[in-house]
Amino acid sequence: MEGIVSEKDFAPIGEYIETISGVSLKYEKEYLVRQRLTPILLRNGFDSFSTFARHVSSNKNNTFNADVISAICTHETSFFRDEYFFTALARHVFTEFSGQNSELPVKIWSAATSTGQEIYTLAILIDEFVHSHPYAGLQFKDFNIFGTDIDGKVLKKTADGIYTEAEVSRGLSPRRLSKYFTPVQDGWNANPKLRDIVNLKRLSLHDFAFSEITEAPFDIILLRNVLIYFREDTARKIISAIHSLMKPGGYLLLGSSENLYKISDLFESVVFENSILYRKKEST
Ligand SMILES: C[S@@+](CC[C@H](N)C(=O)[O-])C[C@H]1O[C@@H](n2cnc3c(N)ncnc32)[C@H](O)[C@@H]1O
Repeated sequence: MEGIVSEKDFAPIGEYIETISGVSLKYEKEYLVRQRLTPILLRNGFDSFSTFARHVSSNKNNTFNADVISAICTHETSFFRDEYFFTALARHVFTEFSGQNSELPVKIWSAATSTGQEIYTLAILIDEFVHSHPYAGLQFKDFNIFGTDIDGKVLKKTADGIYTEAEVSRGLSPRRLSKYFTPVQDGWNANPKLRDIVNLKRLSLHDFAFSEITEAPFDIILLRNVLIYFREDTARKIISAIHSLMKPGGYLLLGSSENLYKISDLFESVVFENSILYRKKEST
């Protein structure tokens, strides 16, 4: 395989990646594309990035698309990532569902869930909330968690709920680890109680197949650390579709470096301690 991918070859490859995933890559990410796609090219009989570029400029439906998506997407995540967001969620948002007029179950969607640390963080948070607020009238089973990702491989890991020592050491306190996980040969397995409230599906936000989401409408949607990979107009369309899947007054959580500036005015920002959450405006 040749060295650096030329700008001329990078253009159709970038366009192909964006078509199949929504992920928009500038030429400065050439090294990433080269490193991550080289094994896939070799496995599929391409002798150079030029041949690959020619192929994908006219063929977008390939048997290796899922492998390309899996290789290109960044799956970085951890338990209780930016913990202050989760603290705000429990303290201020979960309590809103405690009122007698709440429509149960409380439905939560983690829309780019990666390997599941975000989902299990939510499940732990719910269990802790339910136990620390016995008068709220909510039980663990009053919450549903729906998890989706474009990459089937990460969903498999999420469903298994098995994490290495290094993974659990990122964000899980020893107390939470021993309470909610069981040691297994390859690390730690999330207990069945946590795994049982989770419902997983492969879904690309970029396919705009939102009508397939029969689990809607949601009270809370986590769309964390994924919008950054999309162009502004793609992000705008996704947010508008997501907005229509939320209950009035529902909350949207983005990553700590993401915001809705220039993307949507359908939400109002709500500041809880150190975190900004977005609430669906009542009139929209
Ligand atoms: C950086 S991870 C974020 C994980 C988690 N939400 C967090 O904040 O820790 C981004 C995830 O978005 C997923 N992703 C990328 N493009 C997507 C798309 N078009 N539709 C759904 N998920 C996508 C990737 O597969 C990856 O698992």
